[in-house]
Amino acid sequence: MLLENKVAIITGASRGIGESIALAYAAEGATIVAASRKIENLTILVENITAQGGKAIAIPTHTGDAEQCRALVNRTIEAFGQVDILVNNAATNPHFGPILSAEASHWQKIFDVNVMGYFWLSKFAAENMQQHGGGKIINMASVTGMSPGPFMGVYSVSKAAVLMLTQALAQELGPYNIQVNAIAPGIIKTKFAEALWSNPSLNKQFVERTPLGRIGEPGDLVGAAVYLASDYSRYHSGDVLILDGGNSTMGF
Ligand SMILES: NC(=O)c1ccc[n+]([C@@H]2O[C@H](COP(=O)([O-])OP(=O)(O)OC[C@H]3O[C@@H](n4cnc5c(N)ncnc54)[C@H](OP(=O)(O)O)[C@@H]3O)[C@@H](O)[C@H]2O)c1
Repeated sequence: MLLENKVAIITGASRGIGESIALAYAAEGATIVAASRKIENLTILVENITAQGGKAIAIPTHTGDAEQCRALVNRTIEAFGQVDILVNNAATNPHFGPILSAEASHWQKIFDVNVMGYFWLSKFAAENMQQHGGGKIINMASVTGMSPGPFMGVYSVSKAAVLMLTQALAQELGPYNIQVNAIAPGIIKTKFAEALWSNPSLNKQFVERTPLGRIGEPGDLVGAAVYLASDYSRYHSGDVLILDGGNSTMGF
């Protein structure tokens, strides 16, 4: 098992990509601290992991709130002694439309959750990782952080910030043996991207442009997420793994 005796905080773990990563980490022996705002689905995830012989707890957290991020890390340390792996995965996108139509409240909400939330959790987790010899931070970015998604301008800017945050943290935390990397998915079949993949004509366009000939599933990301959390990635930091079925080879 690649993650035995490791304690992993995963945000946005109640469904979609975060849930798949939590299940995969638990199967590799990690103790899971599952976070998202609502407790109901987190509880189901914890029951699933426990039923399979794994160890998990749920901590409801709004990652757009710095104090709740601090509490998530503190409660993890109280429960399990330390944080070894942080997966910053929870994100939001309340604005779909031309970027010039975005209100200040859209910018604020998107940056609070998608950027500041990743920053606060990285800071509080890294303070603990530094004390026990290292750790792993994995930031869920997006291909829209490299080339803006149509009508997703503000969200795309936030994901570009995640990519730069990943590099800045990798630079500063490397001396403490903390590896920081990002995953940039293309379209993945989750609630988040439902408006894109459930539209038959958009779906057809995406599939035709994707060399691997299909839209991604959450499970398509877990191999990279496990690798980046494991000792196999010990000399890998400040990087972004693009998991989009080859779509970006067609030009962003
Ligand atoms: N799906 C795609 O096509 C795609 C593509 C590229 C990148 N991504 C990225 O992948 C990540 C996961 O997305 P997904 O597709 O798995 O989305 P999803 O299925 O909609 O899940 C989002 C998760 O984030 C949680 N969440 C939302 N706002 C939160 C907040 N303020 N605080 C804490 N938790 C919050 C949700 O739970 P609660 O509602 O309980 O809080 C849920 O667990 C995101 O970073 C997204 O930007 C997705």
